[in-house]
Amino acid sequence: MALRKILTWPDPTLSRVCDPVGSDEDLSALIADMFDTMYDAPGRGLAAPQMGVLKRVFVMDVTWKAGPRTPIAMINPQILDRSAEAQTTPEGCLSIPGVLVDVTRPEAVTMAWTDETGALCEDRFTGFAAVCAQHELDHLDGIVTFDRLAPEARRAAEAAYGTAP
Ligand code: NI
Repeated sequence: MALRKILTWPDPTLSRVCDPVGSDEDLSALIADMFDTMYDAPGRGLAAPQMGVLKRVFVMDVTWKAGPRTPIAMINPQILDRSAEAQTTPEGCLSIPGVLVDVTRPEAVTMAWTDETGALCEDRFTGFAAVCAQHELDHLDGIVTFDRLAPEARRAAEAAYGTAP
């Protein structure tokens, strides 16, 4: 078990696009550290670039704060389908501590990914699980919640965070 440091915005690493994970790469140690760091934070999702690792992998567990753990690790995740219906949810981020940002996203997404055993997986996520999966996938593309806001809302959110000019 190892806890790693979580980078905070505006660390430029959080704005980088991550590299695909090769089929011969063993990420088990990285993924174990990501879960440890996420649960310790405590958070419900964590992406590799938040620990300074520019690989397309994230972990999430949207149930553990209220019940049993349901850990999911997604390597090279993709969105196969997005619902037409949208939802707006106040989103926190371990890299933007202390600030919730209202982000509008599709209410449901079908995703495909490789799990930590190398198995190909596909599932549809709704509600908060859909929010979390899309939020973490954004991190792999160098996108944080602030980037999802219109300019005025972004200025207000950055001011609340304390980084507005
Ligand atoms: Ni985040």
